[in-house]
Amino acid sequence: MKKMIPDFVKMKQAGEKISMLTAYDYPSAQWVEEAGIDTILVGDSLGMVVLGYDSTVPVTMEEILHHTKAVRRGATKTFVIADMPFMSYASVDLALMNAGRLLKEGGADAVKLEGGVNVVPIVLALTRAGIPVVGHIGLTPQTANQLGGFKVQGRDIDSAKQLVKDGQALEQAGAFLIVLEAIPRQVAGQISTDLTIPTIGIGAGLDCDGQVLVFHDILGLFERFKPKFVKQYASLGKEAVLALQDFHKEVKSSQFPASEHTFALSDEVIEKLYGNK
Ligand code: KIV
Repeated sequence: MKKMIPDFVKMKQAGEKISMLTAYDYPSAQWVEEAGIDTILVGDSLGMVVLGYDSTVPVTMEEILHHTKAVRRGATKTFVIADMPFMSYASVDLALMNAGRLLKEGGADAVKLEGGVNVVPIVLALTRAGIPVVGHIGLTPQTANQLGGFKVQGRDIDSAKQLVKDGQALEQAGAFLIVLEAIPRQVAGQISTDLTIPTIGIGAGLDCDGQVLVFHDILGLFERFKPKFVKQYASLGKEAVLALQDFHKEVKSSQFPASEHTFALSDEVIEKLYGNK
């Protein structure tokens, strides 16, 4: 049965960990749903792992919408969260219009946006309008340049305290879930204990209320780089290349198509067509 917002809070209260995985299209969404993952994120990481951009910054609303629709068609019974692309929530009006589109046109159940205290007015406006919001603090890839690159955040006293404040501000503004990316486990643990809403970690240690990873990372489908926090559960990219090489060889050697892949006329039709030559 599809999990809903109150279920995630109940899971936290019961000490049941929440699993979240990204998906970007119809088949990946089907597989994630079949695996029983609690919730799907249509992450803007799709810009890098699916569309080949160098960062998540170029991802557009149309791209996220296109992929969210496909995910919704593949996973009809899973709670789907759609990422809001960079600059799509730069003002309250923009955020309301774009988040509304992700729910109305994309079929998402909630939206995720990056930022802490600085995005409180946006989170307030969205939640007041009835749009469920997931926060995202720590390493926020859309603004990684401002953070000094793709680095672990919250390592010193001031930035650790700021992360705690960001978490509290997001909860007070109405977020129902917060992603904690690339922060020390002790800071993530403190935020998780502090908040009533669940935290979902990625590179934030075991003390979060759940974990999220990127579909292509855990299956070995993206090999440009591999962050320390990724655990790869399969090497499907390598297996795919082997299969594709087999196809290539069999075409060259005329082993494919074999008779079981071929349509043939019956003897009777052949005789009528061509006679007894
Ligand atoms: O875009 C994404 O996939 C994300 C996760 C890594 C949390 O934001």
